[in-house]
Amino acid sequence: MSINVQFTKGSGIRLYTPEKEEYLDAVSGTFNLALGYSYPELVDALKNQVEELIHVSSSFTGQLAQEVLDSILEHAPEHITDGWMRDIIGSTANEGAVKIANKYNGKNEVISLSLSHHGQTLFATSISGNAFRRKSFSNTLVTQNGIVPAPYCYRCPYSAKGAPACGYLCAEAIYDHAQYASNGNVSCLILEPILGNGGNIIPPEGYFERIRKICDELDIVLIADEVQTGIGRTGYMFASEHYDIQPDIITLAKGLGGIGIPAAAIIYRSEFAVLEKFEHSYTSGGNLLSLTASQKTMEVVSREGFLENVRENGKVLGSLLLQLKEKYGHVIGDVRGIGYMWGLEIVDREGAPDVKLTNHIIDTALEEHNLILRGSRYGFGNVVKVRPALTATLDDIEEICARLDKLFSQL
Ligand SMILES: Cc1ncc(COP(=O)(O)O)c(C=O)c1O
Repeated sequence: MSINVQFTKGSGIRLYTPEKEEYLDAVSGTFNLALGYSYPELVDALKNQVEELIHVSSSFTGQLAQEVLDSILEHAPEHITDGWMRDIIGSTANEGAVKIANKYNGKNEVISLSLSHHGQTLFATSISGNAFRRKSFSNTLVTQNGIVPAPYCYRCPYSAKGAPACGYLCAEAIYDHAQYASNGNVSCLILEPILGNGGNIIPPEGYFERIRKICDELDIVLIADEVQTGIGRTGYMFASEHYDIQPDIITLAKGLGGIGIPAAAIIYRSEFAVLEKFEHSYTSGGNLLSLTASQKTMEVVSREGFLENVRENGKVLGSLLLQLKEKYGHVIGDVRGIGYMWGLEIVDREGAPDVKLTNHIIDTALEEHNLILRGSRYGFGNVVKVRPALTATLDDIEEICARLDKLFSQL
């Protein structure tokens, strides 16, 4: 972003500068504000907690952590019945999930998808399928991992004509990796149900079924990184539930903290409860403010009608974005998404990814339309993301799309 805007107040999907200029945040921070800015009920819960007690060591927060976990597990896929709440960010939650898989099956290699993003710690970066993030750290990385192609049908790496006719070649690549590239020690496969940072890539029907079968056959633990998709982003509490992914482990962060309070969790099948506390704990893991925020967020998101609203409004958002594609097909190559998780693939006249134009759109939105957007692959990608807070109203959605329409009409 080329201009430096400072915000001092926020409410819903709106942000305000010290001069009271209003901006519309179409991406809920970094997709982490499930409830938008300063959701009053959550602010009150935090205020109360701050007045009572701000911090005690996680040795003394076990009971509250268990209550929060229970409220998450209540909505998790049926077979997921246990969990861990000693993280506050997604990167370490993913590391914890890999540790669990490694300890469980005694193997040490990780497979992930190209274009994936699993975090910014050295390890999480090394298992992510976006090499630009690790270019500068090549000497220090752990490299016991393999990357297989993402199920990116719009730009199929095999130039196949779509699933199921393609035979899910991208999933089948796991066999190749296990047989020829690994030491025979593949412990786990970690994947985002919708590749978020990679460009809002949604796998085709049948893909997850294939993945589950392969994992069973090769004795590989399946980890769903739901740091972006979890806690209602897709209109379902978990994408794993909607797509019937049947993961062994799910990681959560971002939206769990509701209004930007860092919070994370790892949830799993009961047989994966293998970690000792000393093996995966952080000073601020399971802190009182994170737990309070997570508890209130779970309460709000699981209220009757809340997720249904995201699903229904999400359909409107999708149809308005598709209308933009109809109108501006020369620059919008594809529109894909579900719930409040959408992406516009920006292309040049030949249909090739246009990263420069993507960044121009994002900058212009901010500078001229007071609209906050984000791009895929941290500015290296060609997908504009639209992911408002789950509390965004139909009016908010229409306003976002009206500003996008104006912007595209001026390109
Ligand atoms: C899918 C996914 N996993 C993990 C992470 C890392 O989470 P955190 O930044 O909280 O460490 C991110 C962050 O963007 C993410 O999008």
